[in-house]
Amino acid sequence: MSKKLKIGLFGFGCVGQGLYHVLNNSTGFKADIAKIAVKNKTKPRIVGKELITYDKWEILNNPEIDVVVELIDDAEEAFHIVSEALKKGKHVVTANKKLLATHLEELYRLQQENNVSLLYEASACGSIPIIRSLEEYFDNEELEKVSGIFNGTTNYILTKTIAEKLSYANALKQAQDKGFAESDPTNDVEGFDAKFKAVIIALHAFGLIIKQEEVLNIGITTLHENDIKYASEKGYKIKLTPIIQRLDDDKVSVFVAPRFIKEHNHLYNVDNEFNGVIVEGKFSGEQFLQGRGAGSYPTGAAVLSDISALSHGYKYEFKKYAQKHAPTFTNDVVIEAYFRYNNNDDLKQIIFDEISEKYTSKDYHYVVGKVNLTHLIANRDYILKNNLFISLVDEKVSLAKEESKKTVFKKELVSY
Ligand SMILES: NC(=O)c1ccc[n+]([C@@H]2O[C@H](COP(=O)([O-])OP(=O)(O)OC[C@H]3O[C@@H](n4cnc5c(N)ncnc54)[C@H](OP(=O)(O)O)[C@@H]3O)[C@@H](O)[C@H]2O)c1
Repeated sequence: MSKKLKIGLFGFGCVGQGLYHVLNNSTGFKADIAKIAVKNKTKPRIVGKELITYDKWEILNNPEIDVVVELIDDAEEAFHIVSEALKKGKHVVTANKKLLATHLEELYRLQQENNVSLLYEASACGSIPIIRSLEEYFDNEELEKVSGIFNGTTNYILTKTIAEKLSYANALKQAQDKGFAESDPTNDVEGFDAKFKAVIIALHAFGLIIKQEEVLNIGITTLHENDIKYASEKGYKIKLTPIIQRLDDDKVSVFVAPRFIKEHNHLYNVDNEFNGVIVEGKFSGEQFLQGRGAGSYPTGAAVLSDISALSHGYKYEFKKYAQKHAPTFTNDVVIEAYFRYNNNDDLKQIIFDEISEKYTSKDYHYVVGKVNLTHLIANRDYILKNNLFISLVDEKVSLAKEESKKTVFKKELVSY
């Protein structure tokens, strides 16, 4: 039997109002919003002022409120609200990926210690039920890889620059006008948002709590028309994709970078603001989920699904994290990449172990080859500052030690 919950809601913007609408139009499930905390005292509201508060303690100290729903746009303040709520024995639902990716270990510990539930389906890929699928369906299966398009803003920009030949600046402006991109789009276009989601998903897919600062994110800000032309001529689309991949029994790599994708890949047809997730299991093979990764109603619906789950006493079990033989995180991997550079100094800076293709003309130079992720991490700022572009070629990722074995083997063959 489900329990009727009393909700204290933080934030009444895009997602907060989406939740309010979805909740009011839900036929099967009822919960009461007891209070809504917001910040700006002069903003007009679509609800009566008796429901509004500007004081967080009015919710946090109310013993009748059993669920805090956190939907504000300030990750640090959200951390204070969420940790305080958990300590006070309240269940929490949040959509805040930055909050989660930055404080994952502490929040995990707090919800365990206080024996309450912290749910966050809306934080990763909006209305796509990826976290619950990993938790409940793939809880016992060893996974090989989770990859996808986790950010709708960049997917929209890439779709428009490739299909409609819009400039990067025009495509970004269009995304902002349509409300997909924020006025400061850094988190989206530099791949931070996708990385935060990848860090959250890595916990549920592989039982890993990773420090988000250690995960490489390269975005799409340096994309040039030559890169688009190269990709189109080879039959690729360019997508910004996080890859969370098991490389052997105990190593998992996680990173976010642009990637050239061929037509056979499910992600090839995930365009505009849509998100897609591919889960590859050892026995189940490949599963593909597609949906709206953001937006008022889709995200509100994901939050409602968590609230509904709470009414049935649901809690993540983090089964993979609890496993004795959970894998560890590594950046010591080699990827096959396309790299557009300006001059030979750039090639000396970003060292490629092997080059399979090279082109130089007066104003366009690129190589395709193998590069260690640790080089890219060390040179992320250099790549951005010098307007260089790097993209994974399809999805070849392997452990550096495996690559060096191949090199030795090749040398031995040559010497015979
Ligand atoms: N938008 C999406 O499609 C989407 C999708 C997935 C996840 N998310 C996540 O959902 C969260 C909310 O996003 P949003 O797009 O709804 O943001 P938003 O439209 O900018 O709304 C933010 C809300 O938070 C309130 N707020 C800010 N600081 C506050 C504080 N200290 N105390 C109380 N209220 C405060 C604001 O109050 P005022 O109304 O007074 O300004 C506003 O109502 C973010 O973590 C975001 O990353 C969003």
